[in-house]
Amino acid sequence: MKTILRTEDLTKTYRIGKVDVPALRGVDIDIKSGEFVAVMGPSGCGKSTLLHLLGGLLSPTTGKIIIDNEDLSKVSDAQRTDIRRRKIGFVFQRFNLFPTLSAEGNLKLAERIHSKNGGSAEKRREVLRLLKIEDKLNHKPLELSGGEQQRVALARAVINDPAIILADEPTGNLDSENSEIVLEMFRELNKRLGQTIIMITHNPEAAEHCNRIITMRDGVVVDD
Ligand SMILES: Nc1ncnc2c1ncn2[C@@H]1O[C@H](COP(=O)(O)OP(=O)(O)OP(=O)(O)O)[C@@H](O)[C@H]1O
Ligand SMILES: [Mg+2]
Repeated sequence: MKTILRTEDLTKTYRIGKVDVPALRGVDIDIKSGEFVAVMGPSGCGKSTLLHLLGGLLSPTTGKIIIDNEDLSKVSDAQRTDIRRRKIGFVFQRFNLFPTLSAEGNLKLAERIHSKNGGSAEKRREVLRLLKIEDKLNHKPLELSGGEQQRVALARAVINDPAIILADEPTGNLDSENSEIVLEMFRELNKRLGQTIIMITHNPEAAEHCNRIITMRDGVVVDD
């Protein structure tokens, strides 16, 4: 299988005033195209930091991130933003939908950010159908349940066919029934569309949906 994303001795140290907070102390991972990976580990071990680095939302202190053969450290900020928009879809614990826009409006916005000519109504319907929310097109976030909001957020993450989906505790705010629906959708996307997914979770049952588990502790990978 082809490597889609890898890191080399990746470190991140935050600075608060004069205090250094080492969050990642040297992470080497190699993710193949089509893998569904869970990232687990205790609170504060660096999971979100790793995900934000992988997605180009943060810059590393040292080390390398290579996405689809592009070395993020060798490109300009503008190019990094461009790589992120073309190749990465994010799903967060809080759904981060625009409250004044309908489900369809949220998707259209993502499409417009991705490319100037926007997307197609047909593609939007296809994704919403896959996520079983095609009848909620005109609902605003507050007119949707938590599980439905997370599915719209998932639709938004995949609408532009990113090579990689990065999800930070996507079921963290959902009850078990809605978690199950969202996880099933991830598995569907992974199986049917071969989508590469990296998902942080605290939930061992959620991790069972994955085909690989990376465990972190104190800023390093301790099990893979
Ligand atoms: N913006 C920041 N500034 C300073 N320190 C930070 C910042 N973000 C995270 N940290 C610190 O870096 C370490 C790793 O944080 P991170 O958010 O990556 O942990 P996590 O594994 O995602 O934890 P959780 O499971 O609680 O979400 C922690 O010690 C945290 O306090
Ligand atoms: Mg976190």
